[in-house]
Amino acid sequence: KPTGLGLEIVGTINKLQDVFTTVGSSATQIDLPQICVLGSQSSGKSSVLENIVGRDFLPRGSGIVTRRPLVLQLINRPASTPAPAANGAAPQVNGAEKGTDKAANPDEWGEFLHLPGEKFFDFNKIRDEIIRDTEAKTGRNAGISPQPINLRIFSPNVLTLTLVDLPGLTKVPVGDQPRDIEKQIRDMLMKYISKPACIILAVTAANQDLANSEGLKMAREVDPEGNRTIGVLTKVDLMDVGTDVVDILAGRIIPLRLGYVPVVNRGQRDIETNRPITYALEKEREFFDNHPSYRGKSQYCGTPFLAHKLNTILKLHIHNTLPDIKARITQQLQRFTAELQTLGGPLGDHNSGNIVLSVITEFTSEFRTVIDGNTNDLSLNE
Ligand code: GDP
Ligand code: NA
Ligand code: MG
Repeated sequence: KPTGLGLEIVGTINKLQDVFTTVGSSATQIDLPQICVLGSQSSGKSSVLENIVGRDFLPRGSGIVTRRPLVLQLINRPASTPAPAANGAAPQVNGAEKGTDKAANPDEWGEFLHLPGEKFFDFNKIRDEIIRDTEAKTGRNAGISPQPINLRIFSPNVLTLTLVDLPGLTKVPVGDQPRDIEKQIRDMLMKYISKPACIILAVTAANQDLANSEGLKMAREVDPEGNRTIGVLTKVDLMDVGTDVVDILAGRIIPLRLGYVPVVNRGQRDIETNRPITYALEKEREFFDNHPSYRGKSQYCGTPFLAHKLNTILKLHIHNTLPDIKARITQQLQRFTAELQTLGGPLGDHNSGNIVLSVITEFTSEFRTVIDGNTNDLSLNE
């Protein structure tokens, strides 16, 4: 059973997009926000993103591993429809054909912008290519570059949405890094997180002092009201015995409007032994269910709750966008009706616009019901 982000609302949004396609207008696209991770180096940003997507494919590890922004476009594509060949050429195929990935699903693959037409069905090969292209552009010695890697993942199990993995904030240059590394990384991150449509996952390791969180500090600069910042506490499993994040979750340390979600990702040893994502999610669930500090509210802990929270925010966003889309369709409809009249009366199927409008109205109230049942989650941390 897939665990990735967005499953909860994939169906609903697809229905909406289908309806919009019927109208055949680009004025009716729902632009979903981008989700970016922000935090210190090795706080667990790549691990969090990977768990949310529910597939193993991002380079992770101690030290500076993510050295260029990775713009990850998830694209929802229904299962088992013939794939259009990019560039009209026969696509090269990685993985599945070579028998390296027994679990390869023919309906899920990745494509890099810099390798047009090449499909990656083996997600380990996707990771290899991210590492290869990072080294090709920045060398092997810890260099960084603002030039993004663009990766698209096609799958029936994802919501069409963009996630961005970013290098972490650091202070002291190592290897080939420039002396002003701190400023260069900040500038790079700023470009992404300052966009009003960016949802910021501000990642802080729970075994560090929250007051020293560089990610939270920077998130506050661009989102002082906290309207689009979610706090993510990683490495809760590495906290000293007898300490916990309960005070942070309750908003008693640094309150965040959208609250915090504690998570447990795979540790370095799990990475070295290739522990799969299913193992990570089971361990995480076990941890929160059995820990004396969290077991009473473990449904508000862990990756599934983080994904759920993101879903709710996305629903709100769509809900807020619908009136505008409705207005644009009404406008179009009026224009078409007027045009028809100058042509001497109605011709053909002039009803489809009205049908679309009533469907959207229906969705708007459906969303309201869903949202009313969920908004409490956004502020809830107790
Ligand atoms: P990034 O540099 O912020 O992208 O962090 P990574 O995701 O690459 O993780 C850095 C290191 O921290 C890796 O060795 C991970 O295995 C480890 N790590 C990340 N999250 C956790 C966690 O929740 N628990 C434990 N034990 N280790 C973690
Ligand atoms: Na790291
Ligand atoms: Mg990383």
